Amino acid sequence: MTIATRNIIAVLALAVGPILGCKDRAPSGTAAPAASGGATITAEARAEATQIFSLRCTPCHGPTGAGDGPASASLSPRPRNFHDATWQSSVTDEHIERIIQYGGAAVGKSPTMPANPDLNDRPAVVAALREHVRSFRQ
Ligand code: HEC
Repeated sequence: MTIATRNIIAVLALAVGPILGCKDRAPSGTAAPAASGGATITAEARAEATQIFSLRCTPCHGPTGAGDGPASASLSPRPRNFHDATWQSSVTDEHIERIIQYGGAAVGKSPTMPANPDLNDRPAVVAALREHVRSFRQ
């Protein structure tokens, strides 16, 4: 094999490697990075997620995630009941993390579900919020 051929192979490997290795693509139509990317959930992230949930999410999703927050009545569609085991089984962790980070519009759902761009560089908190949503499963 000539040196030139070797160089071409090396360049191809560099170009193709990241594409093959990239399993967490951003939602189509946005340049946003992946959600938590499997970040480790620390105790701090868990505490912060609990606080964020009660401050930002309960107005719509309700304190126990039943979809019955004070603002929910005026929403259409209304937020679903996170206790629903059938729904819990039907969605991936990635879906939950993406909608939390990028909002409903980014995943083909209602744009009234807001994005949380301040969490873009807080993957452990995004993962902890997903865990919080999962904890409502019954
Ligand atoms: C302004 C009201 C509002 C706030 C605040 C809000 N959501 Fe939502 N959320 C919605 C609505 C409405 C939907 C349903 C969207 C749909 O079904 O099209 C939704 C959907 C979701 C879903 C996906 C459910 C599904 O059907 O796939 C998750 C998970 C979620 N929200 C989590 C959160 C978390 C966590 C927070 C706080 C960080 C939050 N939401 C804040 C209104 C809200």
